[in-house]
Amino acid sequence: MHNSRHAAALVVAAILFACTSGASLPSRGATLPQQAVGSVAWLLTNINSQEPMYTSLWTRSKELFRQVLQQNTDAVKSAASELSALQNATGSREPDNATRVAMHMRHGNTPKWFLGQGAEGGRVAKKEGYRRVLRRQKANQRNTEDQWLRCHRRYVAELQSNTASSAPWDVLFYGDSIMESWRGTFLGMPWGPFQKVLPIWEGNFERQPYKSHALGIAGDKAEHLLWRLENGELPSGARHPKIVGVMIGTNDLVDNCTMQHADQTAQSILDVYHLLHTKLPNTHILSLAILPKGETWPNRCSDAILSVNIQLQAFAELNPGYVHFVDVGIAFLGDALVGGKKDVSEALMPDSLHPSSVGMRILATRLEPIIRRLISTPAIASLDRVAVV
Ligand SMILES: *[C@@H]1O[C@H](CO)[C@@H](O)[C@H](O)[C@H]1NC(C)=O
Ligand SMILES: *[C@@H]1O[C@H](CO)[C@@H](O)[C@H](O)[C@H]1NC(C)=O
Ligand SMILES: *[C@@H]1O[C@H](CO)[C@@H](O)[C@H](O)[C@H]1NC(C)=O
Repeated sequence: MHNSRHAAALVVAAILFACTSGASLPSRGATLPQQAVGSVAWLLTNINSQEPMYTSLWTRSKELFRQVLQQNTDAVKSAASELSALQNATGSREPDNATRVAMHMRHGNTPKWFLGQGAEGGRVAKKEGYRRVLRRQKANQRNTEDQWLRCHRRYVAELQSNTASSAPWDVLFYGDSIMESWRGTFLGMPWGPFQKVLPIWEGNFERQPYKSHALGIAGDKAEHLLWRLENGELPSGARHPKIVGVMIGTNDLVDNCTMQHADQTAQSILDVYHLLHTKLPNTHILSLAILPKGETWPNRCSDAILSVNIQLQAFAELNPGYVHFVDVGIAFLGDALVGGKKDVSEALMPDSLHPSSVGMRILATRLEPIIRRLISTPAIASLDRVAVV
């Protein structure tokens, strides 16, 4: 029964994705019964995409997804009623809570029991190094902007000189501070915790037959990255990179963790993918899920993060020729449930936001075999969405 509930919830999640991505489709609240919306909220705070059952459940949801893309509202209704029946049969308390969450979210506030410890828990501020960086940024906003622009210009120059070189990069990573940590820097300046990530980068990516490079900038949101790509940070050589990894979005979900903002964030990330795919049609995109953050999970922003991730995963499912979704988030959560919550591992994420070198090793060792597998096969150009389903 647990599995079926997952299945039904996935169906509705897929429908929601369709509703948010297709301009002419009905809007979320207007079409879907309250209970269905609540179940998605429940799903988003509970789903474990690492479970083997997930794959087959997703396959099942695709058929309905396809119907929704064709605007078959009967399919939407039948999915919702299937879900409602399943919920009634289980008598589970989670969907009830989730329904309340969804109602509250729609009215713009989040019930107290859901608030948890806060995604940007005090631990971030307590970490001396990070606090120093933030203080410096706050004290001199202009300086931060200068640093950001300096990073951007440096990356443009790096790309230009790589284009002219005899060894063009095969793999590029774009993103925020987490992708910048591959370089050992924060906003272009060496930062202690990130310096410890350098050996992980070297061990996993520098000793390969392919050449890799990282272009993250701390603090970037999806729109920053889009701007960077539109302003000189796309590789311009005749030989395109074979793989581009993108991890972005956690900075979009800091203050505003509403579902609407999650949708907007997902859309901005998909805009990044579209731009990359338009300019680099034979390049694979590694779509890296936003990692958990905060001290405990779920928390104030976890449903928004999971909502973005499931939309990215859906996009990858629909474009399997060139988008590959990779989610290592579950590794960052402890096993024990305390009061319905898991710990975000302090060893893997000491400041509740940035992976430690151990956390980055988990990501690197997960990515490396995928890269090795994809590197010899060109991406397949975009297929029509509906046809792919
Ligand atoms: C589930 O229970 C609710 C409340 O009792 C009811 O309104 C709804 O019709 C039921 N759904 C199904 C599919 O039986
Ligand atoms: C559902 O909400 C009630 C009261 O708000 C709470 O006591 C209960 O623990 C919640 N259940 C879950 C699974 O979070
Ligand atoms: C959150 O984001 C949504 C979508 O971008 C926006 O409509 C809403 O006004 C924002 N809310 C707050 C409190 O900033």
